[in-house]
Formats: sequence, structure tokens, C-alpha cells
Amino acid sequence: MIRVFENTDISTRNSFHVHQRAAKIVEFDYNEELPEVFATHVGEKWMALGGGNNILFTKDIDSTLVVPCNKDIEIVGKEDGRVTVRVGAGLEWDEFVEWCVERELWGVENLSLIPGKVGAAPVQNIGAYGAEVKDCITRVEMFFPEQGNFITLAAEHCGFGYRESVFKHSLKGRVIITSVEFCLSETPHPKLGYGDVIQQVEELGGATLSNIRKAICSIRRNKLPDTTVTGNAGSFFKNPIVDSSIAESLLEQYPDMPHYPAGVEGKTKLAAGWLIDKCSLKGYSKGNVGVHHKQALVLINTTGEATGCEVIEFAKMVQKSVFDKFGIEIDTEVNII
Ligand code: EPU
Repeated sequence: MIRVFENTDISTRNSFHVHQRAAKIVEFDYNEELPEVFATHVGEKWMALGGGNNILFTKDIDSTLVVPCNKDIEIVGKEDGRVTVRVGAGLEWDEFVEWCVERELWGVENLSLIPGKVGAAPVQNIGAYGAEVKDCITRVEMFFPEQGNFITLAAEHCGFGYRESVFKHSLKGRVIITSVEFCLSETPHPKLGYGDVIQQVEELGGATLSNIRKAICSIRRNKLPDTTVTGNAGSFFKNPIVDSSIAESLLEQYPDMPHYPAGVEGKTKLAAGWLIDKCSLKGYSKGNVGVHHKQALVLINTTGEATGCEVIEFAKMVQKSVFDKFGIEIDTEVNII
């Protein structure tokens, strides 16, 4: 079914809860409806919207927001302990993780409780606790309005990197992801690299899928604000990847600075949350915007009244503080519209 809403408040459609309006919103339940959606309801200007969890609206939207609501999970293959599933873009990400954990399928458990829809997962290659969704994705299916057809990209052509994909670059604003195909494993593959995770999983009685999910949900609930209560978009900034020589000279001054291999020769990933925290900004707020008191990487709408522009101003102040203290630029992770 296709549903059309005109001149609508979108504060409930973005996790920052900023009060902007959209000229038109079109929801669709079935991928097959997309040609009709575009032929009948969508003009020149449009953009895809999932759960609105990684987006900051700074103005009213005069284009049409196209929202996938297809939620089917279909097992499309089983071979040698590997199960391939095709999942509708409109399914809540964590419902998919729960579905996998209930069926003893390994792969996405470390990504428990990440807010958002399945269709958004490949866009920023969601990641947490030593796992990235790219490691389980095999194909991404999408509609290409310019040509009016559906296309499928194999994972190796999706340009996945740390919070990166082709959907943030050459395909940005040109496709609507309709389904994502994942390859999961019936064989246990616990990823317990994170100190907090190992400890909690052991306390719960060992590395079963449901214990890992429980541990990760509890760590996240404890550290990250609940978007239904406090507007936020998860990590507002990306962890910066710098030349290893820069990391080494900072480490002389700050020996306790968290740093990780960036997966690229000569580069080191730093923790933006730590850098912001060291600028004494954790828990700081001004006007309607603040830095979360338990995780400095997360900016919050403290009063529920913040505008997108206010959040941007505040974010610039955070970026400047980090640059002035460490000489490091931190980029936003959130998609700013
Ligand atoms: N840290 C601080 N102060 C802070 C925050 C962090 O000192 O306020 C330190 C921590 O003690 C730790 C290091 O910085 O030594 C890294 O912190 P953490 O493990 O909490 O992870 P992160 O790098 O801040 C990333 C993801 C999160 C994900 C966590 C856990 C990005 C941009 N963020 O955060 O993802 O949940 O790892 O794996 O990569 C999200 O994308 O919305 C998100 C929440």
C-alpha cells in the first residue's frame, strides 16, 4: 500500500526530534510499488528516509521524503552452516537482530539495539563492539528512479569502509535501498574483543548468542541516551583517522589516549569521544543542545526544543575545541540536511 502525507511535521520522524516540516511524505509497503510511487507521487526532488536516526534536519524539506515500510524477512539460501536472508529495508534493525538471535544465527549480535531501519544499515556501514555490518552483507537491492529499474549491488561493489559506503557518495540521493541480503552463520563466532562485553558475557554465564545480545543491550542502555526520551542521533562525530606519526606524538603527551589500528597502513584511529571528553565538554550544554554526560560523542536535544541550526552551531564549537586542543579535525557522522 502507498500512503501520502502532505505538509507534515517531521519531529517524530527524526531521532533528534527537531521540529521541521516536509512538503510531502510517501510511504510504501511493497518494493513493487516503487515505479508507481515515482510515476505518480514524487516530483524532481526527493530523498529516502528510514527511521531518521542518523539525520539532522536544519530546514523545512521541500522535496518528497520516500519511506520504505517493507518488513519481510525471507530465508533465500542455506548451505554448509551459512544461512542467507533477504530483509526489507523498512524493518527496524534491532527486530532483525532479535530474529537472528532467536534462531541461533550468528553475525549481527554485536550490533544489537542500534537504532534505525535495515535499509539504513549499509548506508553508513553501522558498527559497534568490534563488528561492522559489511561483514555480513552479501548484496544490497535498490530502486534507481533515474532509469525506473531495480538494481542489485554485490557487497564488494558497495565501497564499504568505516562508516562509509557508495550510498554516501556516488549513489547519494539517487537510489532507494529496498532490501538487504545478509549471510549469517549457524556456527558460533563470538566477537568479544571489547573489555566491557567480555566481562558482562562472562557474568551472564558464557558466550551464547543471547548472552552477547543481553550484554550489548545493557552496555548500550547504560551509556547511550534513549532517543524516545532525549533527542539525539547516536555518535554525532566519526572517530578521526590520522597519520600514525600524529597519534604517536599525541601519545607522548597523553599516554592514556585510546587509539586503534585504522586498517590502513600508516594510519591510526582515535576516539573522538575521548578527545571531546578531554576538552571538558562531557555533560556541557548551552541553549537547547548538550554533550551527553556518559558518552561525549553523542550530542543531545536537552530541552526537546533544539533546532537543527542550533545543533550545528554547537557541533562547530565542539569541533573547534578539539582542534584547538589537539590539532585534530573531527567530522560529523550525522547526515545534515
Ligand atoms: N571515551 C571517553 N569519553 C567519552 C567517550 C569515550 O573517554 O565520553 C573513550 C572510551 O573510554 C574508550 C574510547 O573513548 O576508551 C572509545 O569509546 P567507546 O568504546 O565508547 O566507543 P566510541 O569510539 O566512542 C564507537 C561507535 C559507537 C559504538 C561504540 C561501541 C563511532 C562513531 N561510534 O564509539 O557507535 O556504539 O564505538 O563500539 O564509531 C553510533 O554510531 O551511533 C554509535 C553509538
